[in-house]
Amino acid sequence: MAMSAWGAPTGLERTAEQLYEGVSTREGLAAADIAIDRLIAGVPLDPGELRAPCAPGAHAPTPTPYFIARDLYAKMDLDGSSHVLDVGCGMGRMLACHAAMRLPGRVTGVELDAELAARAAAWTRAHDGLAVVSGSALDMPLSSYTHFYLFNPFDSAVLARFLDTLEREAGASVLLVHMSDNGENYAYLGRPGWKLREEGFFHEFCEGRRRSFEVYGCPQHYSIWKLERAR
Ligand SMILES: C[S@@+](CC[C@H](N)C(=O)[O-])C[C@H]1O[C@@H](n2cnc3c(N)ncnc32)[C@H](O)[C@@H]1O
Repeated sequence: MAMSAWGAPTGLERTAEQLYEGVSTREGLAAADIAIDRLIAGVPLDPGELRAPCAPGAHAPTPTPYFIARDLYAKMDLDGSSHVLDVGCGMGRMLACHAAMRLPGRVTGVELDAELAARAAAWTRAHDGLAVVSGSALDMPLSSYTHFYLFNPFDSAVLARFLDTLEREAGASVLLVHMSDNGENYAYLGRPGWKLREEGFFHEFCEGRRRSFEVYGCPQHYSIWKLERAR
């Protein structure tokens, strides 16, 4: 049986893949992503109109497009003992993608905006392996997580505080994926124990032989870091 791009041979992943077939515009991509949200969560996971003013240092709750979430998950090497923390999960798009791909391990999302956290918690309750914490990533224990995902959740000053906490609390080794770190990737440089494993850009949507189109006005840099703790 052929493997789908979503990482599993049958079921929901197949439908998600089919929803991407024929997508040829930015609007079409956003519509396909909302359709995948509805399949998994029953509701759209782009807060859109719900957006409250951001707290100081916090960024807007824009969800990761599924094709980017899928490609970044594929680089995380998750197994049954993995526990991902989505730092600033919004309404839970990364959690939905994990469910759609039927990936091993667990994902927890933490979200500062209480309304978004409540909405994420409401749909994830029905899914094993998904959980949502309402509050700040700066105020929670981090030691049990093996993987961290950040889609540009906060500014450089907050990121530095988060990395300080993570360095104090992390297990022997953690993998951190930072998407859209265009202004923030220098925050990791010079910190002991951090090694850059991979970096790249997302700019265009280009699946199979379909015509590609720009998703972002300028390339969005991502970096994948390994933190190895000296014990
Ligand atoms: C760009 S969105 C990313 C949404 C989601 N991670 C995704 O990829 O679809 C960034 C989110 O981080 C949240 N955030 C900002 N500062 C935070 C903090 N200190 N703790 C938890 N969440 C935070 C924002 O409220 C916003 O919802």
